[in-house]
Amino acid sequence: MEIITEISSLRRRLQRESSIAFVPTMGGLHEGHLSLIRIAQRNAKCVVASIFVNRLQFAPTEDFDRYPRTLADDCELLKNQGTNVVFSPDEKSLYPVRQDFMLEPPPVANMLEGEFRPGFFRGVATVVLKLFNIVQPHVAIFGKKDYQQLHIMRELVRQFNLPLEIIAGETIRTSDNLALSSRNRYLSNEERIEAVRLYRVLSQIKWEIENGNRNSHALRQNAKEELDAHGWKTDYIAVLQRDTLVPAQEDDGDMVILGAARLGKTRLIDSLEVSI
Ligand code: PAF
Repeated sequence: MEIITEISSLRRRLQRESSIAFVPTMGGLHEGHLSLIRIAQRNAKCVVASIFVNRLQFAPTEDFDRYPRTLADDCELLKNQGTNVVFSPDEKSLYPVRQDFMLEPPPVANMLEGEFRPGFFRGVATVVLKLFNIVQPHVAIFGKKDYQQLHIMRELVRQFNLPLEIIAGETIRTSDNLALSSRNRYLSNEERIEAVRLYRVLSQIKWEIENGNRNSHALRQNAKEELDAHGWKTDYIAVLQRDTLVPAQEDDGDMVILGAARLGKTRLIDSLEVSI
């Protein structure tokens, strides 16, 4: 596995590749990322992972400074998984000048995560477009845990006619069903036990929908009340049409339930698809 930090060296290295699959990450890698690498391996000869904690997608009040930076461990995991190339630029390489030319994402980016993290998807879309231009992959893999991000990446590719395909990876969970996330390492032991409640309330909504309950408002309210009663601060619980991410209607068949809530200092998100 090659670890490359310079854009020009990466371009030279990738010139000879006929098919490239790309997994962009911010490091702090876990089994969820490795499952995306495995999807990448099934879809191209050369698998490139990037590791870059992207300042542009963090608000000043957020956890940019304490975001896990575990480059050596990450590279070890990627190497063992058979990744071909790791691109880990520093900020000066990726942002040699102030990045004041930003991508304006579609209105769907202003709700849910965008409502609670203003500017988040501008930062994500901007860095991902840069990374796509640098790596020029044929496919790129994004996890379903960050469902809204996945949706916006699909729109980015579609609306800018980018010559690549976005592939979605399933959420990987612990044995007690906590969605794997780099931020799980912030949880105290007590919080770690409690953290699984987010999955449980989303699962309860899924079960209710599958069993004919379409009162989305009440379902979301119950979920929020249960979380809040156990010390969480809920940002949102939403039941949406899967393809558009607009609120689901009575007759929708394919939906997704999204949730984001804070437990202590840690903000967790999760998502579950449901079809009826
Ligand atoms: O999902 C992430 O880790 C980040 O948002 C991404 C896509 C690597 C962009 O910085």
